[in-house]
Amino acid sequence: MKTLRYLFPAFLAVLLNFNLYAQSEKIQVIPKPAKIKEIKGTFRVDASTSILMAGKNEDIVRNTLFLCETLRQAGGPVLSPVEMNSKNKKKQAIILSLNDQGKIPAEGYILKVTPKHIFIQGGSGAGLFYGIQTLLQLMPPEIMSSNKLKPGISWDIPCAEIQDSPRFPYRGMHLDVSRHFFGKEFIKRYLDLMATYKMNTFHWHLTDDNGWRIEIKKYPRLTQISAWRADHENLPWRERPAQKEGEKATYGGYYSQDDIREIVQYAKDRYITIIPEIEMPAHSIEVLAAYPQFSCTGGPFTVPTGSYWPNIDILCAGNDSVFTFIDDVLTEVANLFPSKYIHIGGDEADKTRWIACPKCQKRVKDEGLKNEKELQSYFIKRVEKIVISKGKKMIGWDEILEGGLAPEATVMSWRGIEGGIIAARQGHDVIMTPTSYCYFDYCQGESGYEPTSIGGYLPLKKVYSYEPLPQELSSAEQKHILGAQANIWTEYIPIPSHVEYMAIPRMLALSEVVW
Ligand code: ACM
Ligand code: ZN
Repeated sequence: MKTLRYLFPAFLAVLLNFNLYAQSEKIQVIPKPAKIKEIKGTFRVDASTSILMAGKNEDIVRNTLFLCETLRQAGGPVLSPVEMNSKNKKKQAIILSLNDQGKIPAEGYILKVTPKHIFIQGGSGAGLFYGIQTLLQLMPPEIMSSNKLKPGISWDIPCAEIQDSPRFPYRGMHLDVSRHFFGKEFIKRYLDLMATYKMNTFHWHLTDDNGWRIEIKKYPRLTQISAWRADHENLPWRERPAQKEGEKATYGGYYSQDDIREIVQYAKDRYITIIPEIEMPAHSIEVLAAYPQFSCTGGPFTVPTGSYWPNIDILCAGNDSVFTFIDDVLTEVANLFPSKYIHIGGDEADKTRWIACPKCQKRVKDEGLKNEKELQSYFIKRVEKIVISKGKKMIGWDEILEGGLAPEATVMSWRGIEGGIIAARQGHDVIMTPTSYCYFDYCQGESGYEPTSIGGYLPLKKVYSYEPLPQELSSAEQKHILGAQANIWTEYIPIPSHVEYMAIPRMLALSEVVW
């Protein structure tokens, strides 16, 4: 039952919440709004309620339809929006408007519920959307159902005035769809859950050793070969044998470009930006399985069925055709995703092959590089030029600092906060995602009671205690910390309900940290 699946995490988070986030009995919203003033009484939404748009602005229309559709899906009153005028605004009504003259912060909103009116005013379309999310959390919990449960529910909303806006502009959730593949319906559900808690960035880890998940028209073997592995799902991740000769690769899947466009639009309707990640130069053996000419040795390779760590076979840094491949792939990626960022991975590149490869060593010599760390930096800087040529900004894991950071790169600090501190001091933007607070693939309770996980321990309480701004930074440097993100790597997380179990309630705690 969808209702319970939505509500349970909220209840749990409320129960386990610190006083810091405690609210009144009537008003319980996650993440906690900045200012709440309770007012006596309730507003009842019923079939006679008007829903009024103060203007025909695209954001107002989209948000109004979203609210009407959410109510309808939950079996609530079916409301038909109309434009506000001097007459209808006097009736019992929900009124949606924008105030984008800077009085309300861009992602902020004011929500005023009185017995006769509900006013939702956003500082932007996103702000209006968050005002609606707060309103939905004030409604009876059945609002989260899409099953048209019991009729006869009173859609009562406690009266209050709420002023709210986020602390950070970047509020992220990541999902690895390579280690296990999750179909587009689950991606939409993940986006819905994010939207409920006002998270605004979905980092979609689309490629990794165990499967390539995005259709690239120019390289069909990426979806014919790289997207599939021999199915050893019955064995523990680290004990799976490599695909044998003649063995069929049957586990996998990918998103067609039409799927991607559909999901990008779905996210846009919820004011979520999707940052696509295409891993390079490492975490790319699935590419080499289809195109061994991009490796240092020539292969052959198969798509790993589990983990053989480290994966020493990575893209060759001495082969210009590798950069042509990257350029072609990123051309299609940039056309599909409106996000200003493309994430190029950059993490955990084992240098074994580069040290032994004549082409890589020639590159080191020709470019006057000192070592393979500088070769990695050469690689990433060259990729940044490609990313910029597509009108995008590059973001990468903190290893991209090694050997010298690319000029305009944004850094995702995961091996602790040190990388983030160094990057911010150099004037680069940073997203904080340290393992100790943000790796939601770590188990959240005592290991004997939890499903097998990759290791690590990250209980809910610890997520609540996270502070993304390092004290070491000056206030000017702190401005480069755009926000924080939780990562869900899926080696040990094979199915959607397990992703939800890992994400929730910890995402609710992170939403309190970043909002
Ligand atoms: C990572 O966890 N390798 C970014
Ligand atoms: Zn090489």
